[in-house]
Amino acid sequence: TLATTIADRHFKTCLMNAAGVRCQSDRDLNALINSNAGAYVTKSATPAYRAGNPEPRMKMIPQGSFNSMGLPNNGLDYYLDFVLKDQAKRPDATNFLSIAGTSLADNLAMLHQIQDSAYNGFVELNLSCPNVPGHPQQGYDFDATKETLTAVFDFYTKPLGVKLPPYFDLAHFDQIAAVLNQFPLTFVTTINSVGNGLIVNYETETVAIKPKGGFGGLGGASVKPTALANVRALSQRLNPSIAVIGVGGIMSGRDAFEHILCGASMLQIGTQFGYEGTKIFDRVAHELDDIMALKGYASLDDFRGKLKTI
Ligand code: DHB
Repeated sequence: TLATTIADRHFKTCLMNAAGVRCQSDRDLNALINSNAGAYVTKSATPAYRAGNPEPRMKMIPQGSFNSMGLPNNGLDYYLDFVLKDQAKRPDATNFLSIAGTSLADNLAMLHQIQDSAYNGFVELNLSCPNVPGHPQQGYDFDATKETLTAVFDFYTKPLGVKLPPYFDLAHFDQIAAVLNQFPLTFVTTINSVGNGLIVNYETETVAIKPKGGFGGLGGASVKPTALANVRALSQRLNPSIAVIGVGGIMSGRDAFEHILCGASMLQIGTQFGYEGTKIFDRVAHELDDIMALKGYASLDDFRGKLKTI
């Protein structure tokens, strides 16, 4: 069984979408509800509708994906309305509402609205959007992250996690974990895209996407080693009460298995879900089931976080 539990919420399977990919419209979200994903997360919301950055703003590359979307979304009211209606229909299902304010005031205003609503699912507070011009990824500023979480937990009492950018230095893992461990977080989701890469078109000698002079976030196969390192390093450092949700480069049951070995309790699929659609949740589940059967594991608990060193 691929079942998993985070903070007493049960999920039939540990596989779900990653925020941003095919989760912007109610049509996208209903497709996820009707799939074999264990949960869904909504496109990161801002207080009001945003059109996002100018196109072209996404490119498929052989090693994954490349984008600078710029937070196109329908605004918090739209997603909160969707999750509230879904919650009324399926009271036993926990899902994820993603928010990504471009300022502390916006994040606090959205969280007040959620706190005052009947919503009882998870919120994924995105501290790592790399694509809004002039707005740095907050997760790279440890003091600002502490300030945000202090202000949030001053009033917010529902289950909340944060979506983190990838870190690349062991000292940074120590520093972000020391901040996060001061708060009653339910989960962390790691990693967001590897920010601000550059794809060059050799023939035309141009950049590949229009926003930000061509700079954009990388996802997919090429980011898996970075994702595994972040899942592992954070699992080793965070309070055991904070679940780690793994995302980055999951295309197969084997990738999923590796994320769980590194400590993930739930798995999100972005790039490859974009390419394959909801049937990926059947395929990867089947492949992971086969691997577990081969290795004699009955549940994720049998191997979660048990990566061995040599
Ligand atoms: C966008 C990209 C991200 O990586 C993110 O976390 C939020 C938004 C975007 O460009 O829309």
